[in-house]
Amino acid sequence: MRAATILVAALMLGGCERAPEVTFTDASITLPDDPLDLPPGPGRQAVLENCTACHSPSTMLQQPKVSRAKWESIVGKMIAIYKAPVDKQAVPAIVDYMVHVQATGADSP
Ligand code: HEC
Repeated sequence: MRAATILVAALMLGGCERAPEVTFTDASITLPDDPLDLPPGPGRQAVLENCTACHSPSTMLQQPKVSRAKWESIVGKMIAIYKAPVDKQAVPAIVDYMVHVQATGADSP
């Protein structure tokens, strides 16, 4: 009987000693800028219809400023490599739009 009492006491003590130290701190995170909408410009509709199914506008907008030829090749890559269902007729309008927003700086918030 006494042995059982000592055992219980030892378990309780042991439990208390091993109490985890929990410290609560205030934490905050800053989300990256993610423009959810495309700025106005010629060809915006073509970009909305052909390009926003797979990634957010920010993927397209937050790119280094590149030439028209480079945009043509990026759109070509979307079609050839990523199988983007892009209307071939819309490609020039899409390229115009990307060049336009980069030229006007509308892509950088
Ligand atoms: C079928 C899905 C799909 C469609 C539709 C699509 N893309 Fe992409 N795009 C991708 C994938 C996959 C990547 C690479 C991974 C990532 O960055 O998310 C990518 C990446 C990009 C990038 C980052 C730079 C690079 O060269 O990888 C740009 C810019 C881009 N896409 C523009 C466009 C434009 C403009 C259109 C419309 C013509 C378009 N995408 C349509 C799938 C797509």
